[in-house]
Amino acid sequence: MPPITRGLQDGRRRVSVRIGGVDASGRLTRREVVAAGMAATVGATVGLPQQAAAAARPETPPRQGETMADVPFERHERVRIGLIGCGGRGGSLLGDLLNVPGVEVRAVCDVRPERAARAAETVAKRGGKAEAYDRGPEDYARLTARDDLDLVYIATPWEWHVPMAVRAMRDGKHAGVEVPAATTLEECWALVDASEATRRHCVILENCCYGYSELAVLRMARAGLFGTLTHAEAAYIHDLREILTVGEGEALWRRAPHTSRDANLYPTHGLGPVANYLDANRGDRFATLVSLSSREAALSEWVAQRFEEGDPKRAERYVCGDMNTSILRTTRGRTVLLQHDVVTPRPYSRLNLLQGTKGTFADYPARVFLDGQEGHDWRPLGDFKAEWEHPLWTKEGETARKLGGHGGMDYIMSFRLVECMKEGKAPDMDVYDAAAWSAPTPLSEASNAAGGAPQLFPDFTRGAWESRPPVDL
Ligand SMILES: NC(=O)c1ccc[n+]([C@@H]2O[C@H](COP(=O)([O-])OP(=O)(O)OC[C@H]3O[C@@H](n4cnc5c(N)ncnc54)[C@H](O)[C@@H]3O)[C@@H](O)[C@H]2O)c1
Repeated sequence: MPPITRGLQDGRRRVSVRIGGVDASGRLTRREVVAAGMAATVGATVGLPQQAAAAARPETPPRQGETMADVPFERHERVRIGLIGCGGRGGSLLGDLLNVPGVEVRAVCDVRPERAARAAETVAKRGGKAEAYDRGPEDYARLTARDDLDLVYIATPWEWHVPMAVRAMRDGKHAGVEVPAATTLEECWALVDASEATRRHCVILENCCYGYSELAVLRMARAGLFGTLTHAEAAYIHDLREILTVGEGEALWRRAPHTSRDANLYPTHGLGPVANYLDANRGDRFATLVSLSSREAALSEWVAQRFEEGDPKRAERYVCGDMNTSILRTTRGRTVLLQHDVVTPRPYSRLNLLQGTKGTFADYPARVFLDGQEGHDWRPLGDFKAEWEHPLWTKEGETARKLGGHGGMDYIMSFRLVECMKEGKAPDMDVYDAAAWSAPTPLSEASNAAGGAPQLFPDFTRGAWESRPPVDL
């Protein structure tokens, strides 16, 4: 079992300095607590879905094991991996993993036998040997039960993430879970509880934290270039109308939540990097969220225009508003604008903005404005490259760009996770991040259903956030 390097809380006295609606100890003001309580009441009385009403409850369930915050991996000479889900994403992750030094992919699993077989062939072509598991939806349990795996990568539809990750951890493996890690607060807690009880890590595979710009901006923020950080913006704005309706791949499962939930369904790509900039779960944490959705229109219009009368899709009723906008506030009074729109014709953006008292970074395109600079124009991030490029990109950038997954950040993510396992470091993104970055789905759903009422973020770290150092990245 890995050693525990840090206790839950260091017993420091809480300092009560009021910043905006919260105090520096992370407590919410009375007004916010009352508002959140009202949201819970509204949820209960108008019969909202269970997860919406539950989202307003800030209670922290009893801990089932010691914290996993900053617990290092045991050192590994090589990292033996099993992959569950060999579809679009799993296939791409597999290609990256087979190029990471020290990785052995020993097992692959998919309910579609041809996909598991293709993944096993890919491994064989690279001189390895992976057993294929393809005997139905529960067959992943035979993979996680193997005694020769260190890590299980999970790239399946969302509903499978938590059962598979929990099973992997219970079977003694670390889990790497695709995004979002969980879709309800109950699922978020299930991951936290399983990780703490089993002493296994549950790493959210948030590749966007490893983008070239994101890692450079993290370094610039750390060095104080933007001064005291006050606000950030994050989003997943990606026109997926074709992908959601094409009849294969993600269309088989990813359209369904649009018929049942009005929420930010995919919060982590934008929020993960911003959470790192703001030291969320490491000295600060997300405390409250308010959210409203626009009306739904684009997906139903698309389906009506593209598909003939009689196509079952035309009978579907979409409830997820085209644009969901949330505002989060942290215990230290920073705000985050968080948006989700996967149906509007507009160019891709994760917004990725960070501002402070001395300057601002904004993405799409990546640009910087610093206090005192000449003129009023943005400067391209490229001007700062020589000084602020992250060492991971300096070292691994060429391989990453050649492999190409999302501009190379996919490879950097897997390289870095394996490096942490080989060197016996704690993961950059742990179960608390998996839970906190995924929680905006149920929280935005509850807030929107209650007319934008504030929702309290659970403290998934159960207090550890206050004394943790920033992510060592
Ligand atoms: N990080 C990123 O940039 C990124 C990009 C795309 C997708 N994703 C995430 O990756 C995950 C998978 O997405 P995808 O695009 O690969 O979808 P996909 O539909 O192409 O692949 C999912 C695969 O899982 C398999 N599967 C389903 N149930 C299973 C079960 N019980 N046991 C074993 N296999 C099972 C399916 O047969 C399919 O091959 C999702 O969580 C998605 O959000 C992340």
